[in-house]
Amino acid sequence: SFYFTSGSLLGMLHFCVCDDVLCQKAMLNSEAVDCPLECDCPTAYPTAMYCHSRNLQHIPYVPSHIKYVYLQHNQITGIQDGVFDNATNLVWVILSHNQLSSEKISDSVFVELGSLVRLYLDNNELTHVPRNLPRSLTDLQLSYNKITNFSPNLFESMSNLTTLQLQGNDIEKVEGGLMGLKSLMMLDMSKNKLMKIPDSFPKELQQLYLDHNNIKSVPAGFLTMYPNLQFVRLSHNSLTDKGLPSNVFNTSTLVELDLSFNQLEKIPLVSRNLENLYLQANKIKEFSLSSFCDTIDGTNFSRLRVLRLDANKISARDIPVEAAYCLRLVSSVNV
Ligand SMILES: *[C@@H]1O[C@H](CO)[C@@H](O)[C@H](O)[C@H]1NC(C)=O
Ligand SMILES: *[C@@H]1O[C@H](CO)[C@@H](O)[C@H](O)[C@H]1NC(C)=O
Ligand SMILES: *[C@@H]1O[C@H](CO)[C@@H](O)[C@H](O)[C@H]1NC(C)=O
Ligand SMILES: *[C@@H]1O[C@H](CO)[C@@H](O)[C@H](O)[C@H]1NC(C)=O
Repeated sequence: SFYFTSGSLLGMLHFCVCDDVLCQKAMLNSEAVDCPLECDCPTAYPTAMYCHSRNLQHIPYVPSHIKYVYLQHNQITGIQDGVFDNATNLVWVILSHNQLSSEKISDSVFVELGSLVRLYLDNNELTHVPRNLPRSLTDLQLSYNKITNFSPNLFESMSNLTTLQLQGNDIEKVEGGLMGLKSLMMLDMSKNKLMKIPDSFPKELQQLYLDHNNIKSVPAGFLTMYPNLQFVRLSHNSLTDKGLPSNVFNTSTLVELDLSFNQLEKIPLVSRNLENLYLQANKIKEFSLSSFCDTIDGTNFSRLRVLRLDANKISARDIPVEAAYCLRLVSSVNV
């Protein structure tokens, strides 16, 4: 219920006093000329439309002045044709945690959204990456779907995409599908079914997450092909010593390397510039100081700060005293 404290009928909602949720909602929507009944379009954020967590089964019609639309945590199964036709100013579309299936998304539904930079479709039932995504996208979230592969050249012209999240899908291989992403800095393909590291990543890549797959080896020269890589996660795979060419991690740009939960018996050689190295839960039997420093001359030491070696086959006794010179920035080695 609401009642007026003052004001004319025209301006009434500006002056009402609300004491329940429905009334507050009416007030919130009062100034937005055009807002679907199911959603909230608060006057304080005139370009946002909030439709999350309200058991929606369809996307409400999106008015043309809306730039940010929040539709997460509903039961939306498809994206009907035309629903975004007037909404050509959309910048963010958040559809996480719904029941979207690929069959119910038409090929042309996003293509006209020339200002769209962020599209979140994670935690749905998609079996493939939607076609004809706008080239303006910078941030595409597709994790926790049922994607098994993607057609080559799918991302060919998406030259502004910087973040691509595909974790928690069923991807077995990637065939040339990522080369077009000239600006891609972060790729997360963890928790998939990759048997090997895909062949071709964009050169700008800085963060590569491939943990929780079934990868057995790293190709020789892999990191030198991607000179901007700083963070590489390969934990929870099936890596063995045999699968790691001798110098494969000796690249000066790498800052963080996660090889935990694999089958390694030796500490691989790493660059002096590496700062975080995770090797816990492997089968490492010896502490090889030469993996970190080839000579110890007092000036040339490792930049390593975090070194995890716990849940391996070594103990603190196996760490030589000289390690204190080489690993002088490591406050304590977890064994
Ligand atoms: C789209 O916008 C036009 C012009 O503002 C309007 O006439 C039309 O009703 C809108 N479309 C829908 C489906 O509401
Ligand atoms: C890519 O980003 C640049 C810089 O923000 C922008 O000028 C350009 O229009 C974008 N490309 C597309 C296809 O939207
Ligand atoms: C590791 O790389 C550095 C810098 O490129 C190089 O000087 C060094 O010899 C390499 N280490 C080994 C063992 O090849
Ligand atoms: C550290 O070692 C590298 C080669 O590994 C060498 O190029 C560099 O000059 C050394 N730095 C110092 C301060 O001795």
